[in-house]
Amino acid sequence: MLGAWCLLLVTGNHYPAPFKIANIRNSFSSIPLVLEEFVSFVYILQHDHMNDLSELLLNRRTIRKYSSEVVGDNLLEDLLKAACRTSTTGNMQVYSIIVTRDEVRKRELSPLHFNQKMVTEAPVVLTFCADFNRFNKWCLLNNAQPGYDNFLSFMTAAIDALLAAQTFCVAAESKGLGICYLGTTTYMANKIIEVLKLPSGVVPITTITLGWPAENPGQPDRLPPEAVIHKEVYSDYSDSDIRRFYSEKEGREDSKQFIMENSKTSLAQVFTDVRYKKEDNVYFSKMLLKVLQDQGFMNNEQ
Ligand SMILES: Cc1cc2nc3c(=O)[nH]c(=O)nc-3n(C[C@H](O)[C@H](O)[C@H](O)COP(=O)(O)O)c2cc1C
Repeated sequence: MLGAWCLLLVTGNHYPAPFKIANIRNSFSSIPLVLEEFVSFVYILQHDHMNDLSELLLNRRTIRKYSSEVVGDNLLEDLLKAACRTSTTGNMQVYSIIVTRDEVRKRELSPLHFNQKMVTEAPVVLTFCADFNRFNKWCLLNNAQPGYDNFLSFMTAAIDALLAAQTFCVAAESKGLGICYLGTTTYMANKIIEVLKLPSGVVPITTITLGWPAENPGQPDRLPPEAVIHKEVYSDYSDSDIRRFYSEKEGREDSKQFIMENSKTSLAQVFTDVRYKKEDNVYFSKMLLKVLQDQGFMNNEQ
């Protein structure tokens, strides 16, 4: 009975979940609950939370235009705190987050992100870095010899950094903020290292621009889930699977526009010949490998 009433209370208004839960907690703080009702009460609250989160995840989109409204320090701190709760390898937390709010530094970073306007227009720019520097120092201070100067350790730290970044994004979007990842970070890592003064053992992995949305773009397409999900073992794609999975993407008006504007005959060519070309990939790949060498992640000696 009480559970059903809670359900009404939880689902029947339009307040965001945390507000609803706080309200319910207040309403019942002085009433003793029998165990069964308490369990269903908790279940409903959790379920309601999950629905809200699923909705958020299903409806999200990248935001590249931001209003001039300030992102408050306290809010940013809360989001960063949430990001720092992310699971990491061995709980080592081998990542760092550089917060850039300073206009001059944003202008320094801008060309390193190929002048993407979000860098100077967003109130906050965050650079997530793979970071073994801090952990190595802790080891050395404690008579422990770190063995983290190799490619595997770089991957470990890069994974930690990306997971923290994604947690940050979900937390930010749940507050109504807009984010955009910048993949240019790994292209120009050597120069970003100079601007952000990153020591040995630290490599920038991704950048996020953050602000209050000043646009409401349409949601980009996705491949159908069955294109990316394999049951039990990988089931390789036949030509007809590939055609089927990519047909919706290829049929979109914006895809046709891309093909026409770039004088190509297929959408795939827009990727291979324009957006992510082999010569660019090889060039930036060599630069990144040098960064890993210079930052102390390519030692293969025992
Ligand atoms: C690792 C990564 C790098 C990205 N780099 C850029 C970028 O440099 N510039 C940009 O405008 N968007 C960038 N994006 C955003 C993607 O273009 C965007 O996520 C994708 O088009 C799907 O759109 P949606 O996020 O709105 O669903 C990046 C996204 C990821 C995950």
